[in-house]
Amino acid sequence: MVQPYKHEPFTDFTVKENKKAFEDALQQVKGQLGQDHHLLVDGERILTDNHIVSTNPANTEQVVGRVSKATQELAEKAMQAASNSFESWRKWSAEARAGLLLRASAIMRRRKHELSAYLVYEVGKPWKEADADTAEAIDFLEYYARQMLEIDKGKHVESRPGERNRYVYQPIGVTVVIPPWNLALAIMAGTTVAPLVAGNTVVMKPASNSPVIAAKFVEILEEAGLPKGVLNFVPGSGGEVGDYLIEHPKTALISFTGSRDVGLRIMEKASVRQNGQNHLKQVIAEMGGKDTVVVDKEANIDTAVEAIIVSAFGFSGQKCSSGSRAVVHQDVYDEVLERVVARTKELSVGNAAESNVYMGPVVDQSAYDKIMSYMEVGKEEGRLMIGGKGDDSKGYFIEPTIFADLAPNSRMQQEEIFGPVVCFTKAKDFDEAIEIANNTEYGLTGAVISDNRQHLEIAARDFHVGNLYFNRNCTGAIVGYQPFGGFKMSGTDSKAGGPDYIALHMQAKTISEMY
Ligand code: NAD
Ligand code: ALA
Repeated sequence: MVQPYKHEPFTDFTVKENKKAFEDALQQVKGQLGQDHHLLVDGERILTDNHIVSTNPANTEQVVGRVSKATQELAEKAMQAASNSFESWRKWSAEARAGLLLRASAIMRRRKHELSAYLVYEVGKPWKEADADTAEAIDFLEYYARQMLEIDKGKHVESRPGERNRYVYQPIGVTVVIPPWNLALAIMAGTTVAPLVAGNTVVMKPASNSPVIAAKFVEILEEAGLPKGVLNFVPGSGGEVGDYLIEHPKTALISFTGSRDVGLRIMEKASVRQNGQNHLKQVIAEMGGKDTVVVDKEANIDTAVEAIIVSAFGFSGQKCSSGSRAVVHQDVYDEVLERVVARTKELSVGNAAESNVYMGPVVDQSAYDKIMSYMEVGKEEGRLMIGGKGDDSKGYFIEPTIFADLAPNSRMQQEEIFGPVVCFTKAKDFDEAIEIANNTEYGLTGAVISDNRQHLEIAARDFHVGNLYFNRNCTGAIVGYQPFGGFKMSGTDSKAGGPDYIALHMQAKTISEMY
């Protein structure tokens, strides 16, 4: 009997023992850095001559690991293995598949700090963010296992006298999983186990900035008893290996999380019928965001300040859910701005492998260069209040940055910067604030800070985002509590961690019999 689902608690690092345990994990993982990691095809662990060398973005000389790179030939073998093993895996009972996820989550729970420590080294996560990333990954395994057991019961449909109608779900086939680096463990794990527990087989191509944590996760699934060929792990370039997998005639489902442009390209490619392909490819695509925290004139200013800070600077603004826009009622604009600037001065930035800093680096040189180029745009379009500088001499560090007085249609308020930058815009009233909040092509998350119940009701109806939060930050959705996914150019609104998610990896079948 499976216990009811409860999300994994976060670690309180103000408790001395917890802090010590995490420091020990950082030391332990430091001793493991620089190792070679294999890819996995048809149960065979393969080391190749070409590698993705993963380095610590806070200390670019530190090699986190060298992960073998797949070629198109290996990608083809992975597709064949996934296709062959589908025939047996799909016949495993839902209970057996769910049991495998629960065993894997128990292993992860035992190794929680070790996995989080890898996230500190590989993507520069501060402790709190790394801990939340690992907790979310565990949650996905626990939650999807239970959802599969539910969905396996089928759904009720009506039957007439003398007739028996059934409505059941079946797996689709080979799933190509392409995750991002920013929730390097959680999203990679969640998007991998959802198709698996549904009875599909998987070829997973990890993000090139976070292949080591993905390799660690694959090992855990093997340890939990995943049969050979059911999950194939093929690190490689998006253009070479990614495209090959997406275009493959045997691909039945693609689960992508990443940027808008890559997502759109994948949808386009998936729509083209290949030789030998007798099915439509399904695509789940969760993409970018340009998310807004709205502050009303009747609002708790302390709550507003904290919501803006956490939304903008958590993991250096590198979340699709990051609140990179603050739209504030004119009556409280100056006060909120001034207090957010003051609070920002208190934030620590540094290498989380050395101390428990609030903010680490951004992920790589190209992210650093892109974000720094927006600093110039910000200075032209608005008023720099704090930050604006970076230092990439040892790692990719950028100061938490605030720009004020941006026009709603400015580039700074429209384009996804994906860094520690928040831009303020003044609204004359609440209606205008919601209008501005809605005026981007994205529709992922948003927050409204208000004590006015009528305004919250207006926002509930008119603020067009997939995840809307009242009187809190707009990041940090919890699996099973706040299913996650966006509208408009933010994606297909698959609602990861929600009750409908597993069904997206299956096809429903109606069986009707006359007695
Ligand atoms: P990205 O689009 O650059 O890469 C995502 C994945 O796609 C990676 O694994 C990458 O290797 C792969 N890829 C790149 N080019 C490819 C190609 N031509 N064919 C196939 N695969 C290819 O995104 P990223 O930098 O890893 O992540 C940041 C982006 O992801 C941001 O835009 C962020 O908003 C978005 N994101 C969205 C969500 C969500 O749930 N909506 C969650 C996390 C991140
Ligand atoms: N699901 C993540 C969040 O809510 C992206 O912040």
